[in-house]
Amino acid sequence: MDCRVKPGNDEVAIEPRAGLSYLLRMASLKDDVLAALSSVPTPEGRPLTATGKLSEIVANDGKVFFSITVEAAQVKQWESVRERAETAVRAMPGVQSVMIALTAERGAGGAPSLPSPASGGGRGGRSASAPPRPTAAPAGAPAGQGARGPAGIPGVAGIVAVASGKGGVGKSTVAVNLALGLRDLGLKVGILDADIYGPSMPRLLAIREKPQTIGGTRLKPIVRHGLAVMSIGFLIEEETPMIWRGPMVTSALTQMLREVEWGTLDVMVVDMPPGTGDAQLTMAQQVPLKGAVIVSTPQDLALIDARRGIAMFRRVNVPVIGIVENMSTFICPHCGTRSDIFGHGGARHEAERLGVPFLGEVPLAIVIREKSDSGAPVVASEPDSAHAKVFRDIAARVRDGLNVASRPAPKIVIEA
Ligand SMILES: Nc1ncnc2c1ncn2[C@@H]1O[C@H](COP(=O)(O)OP(=O)(O)OP(=O)(O)O)[C@@H](O)[C@H]1O
Ligand SMILES: [Mg+2]
Repeated sequence: MDCRVKPGNDEVAIEPRAGLSYLLRMASLKDDVLAALSSVPTPEGRPLTATGKLSEIVANDGKVFFSITVEAAQVKQWESVRERAETAVRAMPGVQSVMIALTAERGAGGAPSLPSPASGGGRGGRSASAPPRPTAAPAGAPAGQGARGPAGIPGVAGIVAVASGKGGVGKSTVAVNLALGLRDLGLKVGILDADIYGPSMPRLLAIREKPQTIGGTRLKPIVRHGLAVMSIGFLIEEETPMIWRGPMVTSALTQMLREVEWGTLDVMVVDMPPGTGDAQLTMAQQVPLKGAVIVSTPQDLALIDARRGIAMFRRVNVPVIGIVENMSTFICPHCGTRSDIFGHGGARHEAERLGVPFLGEVPLAIVIREKSDSGAPVVASEPDSAHAKVFRDIAARVRDGLNVASRPAPKIVIEA
């Protein structure tokens, strides 16, 4: 069954199990939010709802998300509008939390040249329609940043995206174990789950609690195994229908980058969703990525997608730190026999061909999957295993690619 509603002219796909009563509740909350926003004044002298600056409003089980997009030069003036809008919506009965992003349109020449939407596309089947390309920069960024690129996150020295062209190749598994490997090298590491449609960090790190807020507006990341972690999965229930669309992906990511108290980090590892869609472009546009790690399985099909991912990062001037071959050789835990289930060496060969560093091979191992699924990634739960060593070696190559110095090994406090 294909269950769709039409708010205005936009089609939004809703999971069939959402049911009519859910849709009615959602529609009515959305109307109430619009009514509340109609009393918010703006510098234009018109109510906020009449300015054409509001994105689609997502009202979801008491959680309300939307963005206000203004010209870069007007950001300061509009910050108080964002605050008033937040106060108005938060005061509404039935509203539990509000996320409003104030985003700034870039002036001409501000954005890097981007691939056309036709070359990318979001996660197949999960978003309703081809989302608009993100054209917004974070409101905190200085106006006219243009040639200098997007503003960094205060306190965060380097941001690394873990990406692939294809889904299910093990990005999240690699991202979390890479982050732990970098931690073992003595670096202060954070991990941002940029997969708005299918966040993995709650499961991979067995995180069930909600982040605390600071002063009602900023969020504290959750700390696990010494990593600062943020995921949209901490804020919304796993069962929540995914009705996020292009602009919402942009504003959710912006908020997770800029409205979270990341503290001082040597490296922020970003677990990207698959493909070359909105989230990738948002990340490339909104923060200065120090580099991208491309994950691929050894077989040809995945490599074609990896090539596409590499091409995209190159096009937006993000250096490719290297390629990881995941689900490489399978070594039978019982008899020790090697089998190259998805082939072997394809990613190394491809890295050579493309002139990017090869970062290492992660074997296909049942224990890697089991430990990931139980929320205890191998580098944390089996630090002396050969698999953990593989990830630490990859982490060392990534660190070298980033030119960040290791510190003396820290005392790791494992959180309960
Ligand atoms: N080296 C490995 N050995 C065994 N299983 C693995 C390995 N790497 C990943 N997996 C398993 O493969 C599945 C997909 O991995 P993961 O979620 O990390 O992929 P992904 O690329 O992030 O997926 P998505 O594109 O949906 O975000 C998971 O069940 C994971 O435990
Ligand atoms: Mg993933």
